[in-house]
Amino acid sequence: MYLSLENISKTFIGERHTVQALTEISFGVAKGEFVSLIGQSGSGKSTLCNLIAGLITPDSGEIRLNGQRINGQAGHVGYMPQRDLLMPWRTVLQNVTLGAEIRRQPTKAAYARALELLPLFGLAGFADAFPNALSGGMRQRAALLRTFLLERPVLLLDEPFGALDALTRREMQRWLISVWEHLQPTVLFITHDVREAALLSDRVLVLSPRPGRLVADVPIALTRPRREEDESFVRLQTTLLRALAASAA
Ligand SMILES: Nc1ncnc2c1ncn2[C@@H]1O[C@H](COP(=O)(O)OP(=O)(O)O)[C@@H](O)[C@H]1O
Ligand SMILES: [Mg+2]
Repeated sequence: MYLSLENISKTFIGERHTVQALTEISFGVAKGEFVSLIGQSGSGKSTLCNLIAGLITPDSGEIRLNGQRINGQAGHVGYMPQRDLLMPWRTVLQNVTLGAEIRRQPTKAAYARALELLPLFGLAGFADAFPNALSGGMRQRAALLRTFLLERPVLLLDEPFGALDALTRREMQRWLISVWEHLQPTVLFITHDVREAALLSDRVLVLSPRPGRLVADVPIALTRPRREEDESFVRLQTTLLRALAASAA
């Protein structure tokens, strides 16, 4: 497996409370695979992202990327945190090339690559616009482009469409799949929306309520684009909902 987690556990120890967030999580993601992780709020999804992104370290277990142990090491994956905000004082172009700037890479090359990808991200003509001039969907696409431009082998997207209205969200889901088909990144997509996971993924991992454990690993054989009215799609959603409900019981 390209990205692999083996027996990952994490407990937060505070002055007053101790929170066991994740217990013995093991799974792998193949290169180019689109895997979703679903679980209710508080089940440890963002914690798992922070662990894979190396922002926090697991209490036990191993996280490997392409065979290399990356526990506690930041910078290996492209991470779009749940509350990823664009900087309002920077243009779209300046926002999406932030990664290159932080790594002190040549601005010219970073701008050229960003300008090349703006149309694919539905932002053609908006390079010099400021975030407040963009719609919610456009802002999320800009944040996604910034994550893509980190040019990391794995994309970790934590509920990227959570704050969007239903119609925009649907458009963004279709769009994300077209980008994924085009660029073939390895994606770990976090959501609490079963329908979204079923629409997008090659596989869905189901996390139990806290402390999060993996309770199901559901491969999806349906071809894309998926049709929600198809019986097979409805069955898949039912399977996922049942796995979630069983884990909460
Ligand atoms: N830095 C932290 N310190 C203490 N508790 C935390 C910290 N981060 C997360 N938690 C707790 O861990 C649990 C899982 O949180 P989180 O990973 O954000 O869940 P999710 O993203 O699935 O909603 C929650 O109970 C949360 O309060
Ligand atoms: Mg979260």
